[in-house]
Amino acid sequence: MRKFFQTLLLLLFAGLSVAYGQGFKLDISEKSATITLDRAKKQTLWLPIDNSAKEVVMQVKGSPLYTAPVTVRLADKQVECWMPLQLDKSTSQIKIAGCKPEYVAWQNLRLGKNPNPKIEDYRQHIHFSPEIGWTNDPNGMVWHKGEWHLFFQYNPLGTRWGNMSWGHAVSKDLTKWEQLPTAIYPDSLGAIYSGSAVIDKHNTAGFGKDAMVAIYTSDYRSKSMRCQQQSIAYSLDRGRTFTKYEGNPVLPSTRRNFRDPKVFWHEPTARWIMPLACGKGMEFYSSTNLKEWKFESRFGDKYGCHFDVWECPDLVELPYKGGTKWVLFCSITKDAQHGSSVQYFVGDFDGHTFTCDTPEAYTDWINYGRDNYATVTWSNVPDGRCVALAWQNNWKCCSREKFPTVGYRGYMSLAYELQLVEYEGKVKLISRPAREYDNYFRKDVFAGKAKVEGKSELCRLEKQGSAYRLKLEFDEIDAPQFGLRLSNEGGEWVDICFDRIKREFRVDRRESGAVDFSEKFPSVTVAPMSAANCQKLTLIVDRASVECFTDIAASSNLVFPTKSYNRVEIYTVDGSVEVKSEVAFGK
Ligand code: FRU
Repeated sequence: MRKFFQTLLLLLFAGLSVAYGQGFKLDISEKSATITLDRAKKQTLWLPIDNSAKEVVMQVKGSPLYTAPVTVRLADKQVECWMPLQLDKSTSQIKIAGCKPEYVAWQNLRLGKNPNPKIEDYRQHIHFSPEIGWTNDPNGMVWHKGEWHLFFQYNPLGTRWGNMSWGHAVSKDLTKWEQLPTAIYPDSLGAIYSGSAVIDKHNTAGFGKDAMVAIYTSDYRSKSMRCQQQSIAYSLDRGRTFTKYEGNPVLPSTRRNFRDPKVFWHEPTARWIMPLACGKGMEFYSSTNLKEWKFESRFGDKYGCHFDVWECPDLVELPYKGGTKWVLFCSITKDAQHGSSVQYFVGDFDGHTFTCDTPEAYTDWINYGRDNYATVTWSNVPDGRCVALAWQNNWKCCSREKFPTVGYRGYMSLAYELQLVEYEGKVKLISRPAREYDNYFRKDVFAGKAKVEGKSELCRLEKQGSAYRLKLEFDEIDAPQFGLRLSNEGGEWVDICFDRIKREFRVDRRESGAVDFSEKFPSVTVAPMSAANCQKLTLIVDRASVECFTDIAASSNLVFPTKSYNRVEIYTVDGSVEVKSEVAFGK
């Protein structure tokens, strides 16, 4: 502390150049600083950050990765954690603008080993999260040569949104993920926003047969202008390295909300189709080579919810009653309270135009929980299944807030298999946990059957250290309300309730653990409940989330209990039910 004040005085009077730490020299003046490395080589500079600090702008001179300036919330008063700035042999200087001499960051810069204490309290077992840094939307999901690729909106230099790049992870079984080096960094066209990836089997783009081609939005911002355009990059080594196409952008524009291309191959017209979110609607573009795109049509100005701009489209064809139907996904802020959600429209697509089957005012939601956004599907899935993934978070609770995780922020949902079913005269899109999880939930499986009237403990789970799955069937229902409560010894709980009077399925997380980091977080979410005589429910409980699947609805919510919920109680209000149950732990 004394050293800090002495330094501060020196700086104020002289604007001196001061050397701190090992391996670099630091020059600080009133509003800027320069870090000069003793030796330029492949190494990591750990930047102390604090999420409540202002952003400063850094230019990493000569870096092949950070070719555009990056923004960092450099710690001003306290250090929350450290973020890794990757340096290499062509980098010897970092210029920082917008900082102050009294920042605590200066004494806390570290070269070399990761100085972060390991705080993994809420790391989930089968929900992906990045080692370090921020994530939002899943991107570029493609199955290729035995690997499920997950690229994701990534800030490698902070735990709040910024420096949008594509992070990368792969999995062989959808449960264990390996994070790989960041795949695509911002450039002179802007930040790398959401998009998709395809395998170019016919080499239509000329990058090579079976090239993995990423199609993403370049988000450009300057003082005088803001626009979004579409760009591409390709990989010939299973997504490990990408080369940006020199002709980018492939779909130029001056529009501000023109993003999130989700490209797929349309066999009947033998062209690539790109659904794109444009203001409060979706547009469709076509191409024969991924490099030149033609406008086809626009959908949605009068359909569904328009509380905010539309984002993250996907358009998939699913089997239905011996034929097929097309489903269009649209991520949107549903309202001020619930926040992020994903609506969908069922209809037809002829390669040019999407025609919706439902009336303009109708909409339905893929998931009724608070934490399920930006849902898109994997392309090139070998057995033709429609497998989707969502960002397990909500823009309303995760940005400025002091989120419970340290050093990283954001999870992906479980992978879902999607299917269409008919329900009360409507076509409904149903999500189920992908069958890959059946392999995971094979340990310590307990099954039982009981009549419950009032409250009854179903089980106490002694083990911690894996996710668990509950499969329940409520039959012989003679109670207006029934459900279950997950709790721990700390008195934290989640209540999951079927309400036959209101025909609602509710998830109450108001007492689930850490809830007060955001006033929007404590919530009771409501989904429709089917009229079936027997109600089936599958729950997957991971360290920081509870995902529920009923006959007709899914509801996924984050929770931050101090310890995992290890007690499961079934209850009824005024009456009885018969419950068949199966509890299974992960491997
Ligand atoms: C959705 C979204 C996308 C955009 C990305 C930016 O969460 O706003 O529309 O591409 O996030 O990170």
